[in-house]
Amino acid sequence: MTYEHHDYDVLIIGAGGAGLRAAIEAQQRGLNVGIVTKSLLGKAHTVMAEGGIAAAMANVHPEDNWMVHFRDTMRGGKYLNNNRMAELHAKEAPERVLELEQWGALFDRTKDGKILQRDFGGHRYARLAHVGDRTGLELIRTLQQKVVSMGTDVFMECKVLKLVHDANGKVAGCVAYRRQTGEFVTFAAKAVILATGGAGKSWKFTSNSWEGTGDGHAMALWAGAKLIDMECIQFHPTGMVWPLSVRGLLVTEGVRGDGGVLRNSEGKRFMFNYVAPMFRDETAETEEEADKWYDDHTAGRRPPELLPRDEVARAINAEVKAGRGTPHGGVYLDIATRRSPEFIRRRLPSMYHQFMELAGVDITTESMEIGPTCHYIMGGVQVVADTAATAAPGLFAAGEVAGGLHGANRLGGNSLSDLVVFGKRAGMGAADYIAAGEVAGEMNKDEVDAAVAEALAPFDKEEGENPYDIQRDLQEMMQANVGIIRTQSELDEATVQLDAFTQRVKNIKVKGGRAYNPGWNLATDLPAMITVCKTVTIGASLRKESRGGHTREDFPTADPELGKFNFAQSTSGGNWDSDIVTEESPLLPMPDELKALLEEAK
Ligand code: FUM
Repeated sequence: MTYEHHDYDVLIIGAGGAGLRAAIEAQQRGLNVGIVTKSLLGKAHTVMAEGGIAAAMANVHPEDNWMVHFRDTMRGGKYLNNNRMAELHAKEAPERVLELEQWGALFDRTKDGKILQRDFGGHRYARLAHVGDRTGLELIRTLQQKVVSMGTDVFMECKVLKLVHDANGKVAGCVAYRRQTGEFVTFAAKAVILATGGAGKSWKFTSNSWEGTGDGHAMALWAGAKLIDMECIQFHPTGMVWPLSVRGLLVTEGVRGDGGVLRNSEGKRFMFNYVAPMFRDETAETEEEADKWYDDHTAGRRPPELLPRDEVARAINAEVKAGRGTPHGGVYLDIATRRSPEFIRRRLPSMYHQFMELAGVDITTESMEIGPTCHYIMGGVQVVADTAATAAPGLFAAGEVAGGLHGANRLGGNSLSDLVVFGKRAGMGAADYIAAGEVAGEMNKDEVDAAVAEALAPFDKEEGENPYDIQRDLQEMMQANVGIIRTQSELDEATVQLDAFTQRVKNIKVKGGRAYNPGWNLATDLPAMITVCKTVTIGASLRKESRGGHTREDFPTADPELGKFNFAQSTSGGNWDSDIVTEESPLLPMPDELKALLEEAK
């Protein structure tokens, strides 16, 4: 069979912040670049990082610098991070923010005209450059405009099915299909950059849109790369819980960064009960007393609502479990009693409209009902920090699909900076790889044909299952068994269930034709979703400790031994139903000067 075909120096899969930044870099180095996205240009999970981009610019707190940012990121990640990535990220983020400004991003301003920075959880200082509560949108708008002005080829609504190798096992391109027509397309490239984002769509309550199905994670694994620490999933503390139709939709951490507090059904500011004992006034009778003790004993730390996300999400979970939740199973987020209506509307315009339009709640006078929502996967493709290269020659990865930077838990705001720092580095890494001349030969045609045959198989069945039924059941199963708090018995149940889901996916029947058939699109997503869910469940089973975005009720504390390595997963079969092998991959040794920075903070 022959298909529509395109040749590029660098092919980028994914058009969120990381993909666009990588494209700019590669193109500025004189390479011929193509971008493929299964969605529309400008529609990516990047926009869900609403509250800001973290960069130690010291515009609000002159004491801030890359070393403090590095320390906060490592501490937030419970030291499972790739320390070189954390170092590069902290050092390069300010330059990337200034570059966005030069390219047209309109950040909010301090009184003296500098880029304004706001507080966010786990950051020692107000560090998030922002555009109201629409920072991700502004970032993507800026990068998109730059890419369009450079004339980069963008293939929208084009879903990549599988990466393809050459005869020597190097990644040589991919096979995709156009959602509008159902026709197949092949892309040959000297280097491929994965920037496909996350995988949250396998959970029932998520901030992720339909695109977040983990395609990049799965394709990398199938192609010979390794995935690390997939069990580390971030449940953002504040998603909408009501109305049900929008459950999971993000409520930016910027609300808490700008003074919002969390209250239970008794009206109590419960986060004081979840801080370390030395910061807690056991005799406090009023919120003011607890607040004063906390302030006096934390030497200017952020309020307890701005603890790292994993800690806040667990506290909310505990309040609801203890019967102190709201009518719809969340807690209250209150900014109305803390800030003026004018301030709220100016700083949080999207939140104001979101609650007004979707829930009929005026956040300038009423509290929001919120609860944890699956937001981000810290685990991802193992990469070399400086180049974004993966273990599969010719394949690079950046952004949420890559693992390592955030360790076991990501700090809010570190995702947008991740995208631009490592998007640029992936573009550089790919360019250097091409310049070194070790690029792949022709794509293996058998691999292309096999991927096409697999994609078409659901049309051929006389009978079979509806992919939407499988997706719904999978989301419920993952939410119930591999959610915020995990136990061995639930993980064992998930393991059994995932085998059953594998069989169900093999039995999918798709009705209708190939042109714009969302059922078929989902059928092609499900193998990746199953692969990702398996890697998460295996990792969660093996990690018999609690660390960051992985909490085990049966192993409630961190095990120092398990903090010495990442769990790295691979397959030898290269298919979505191949066995997954997990090994211990020692953490990158930390140079003494970085160790000293962490010691200083203790
Ligand atoms: O809450 C937020 O605005 C999300 C930010 C992030 O995930 O980095």
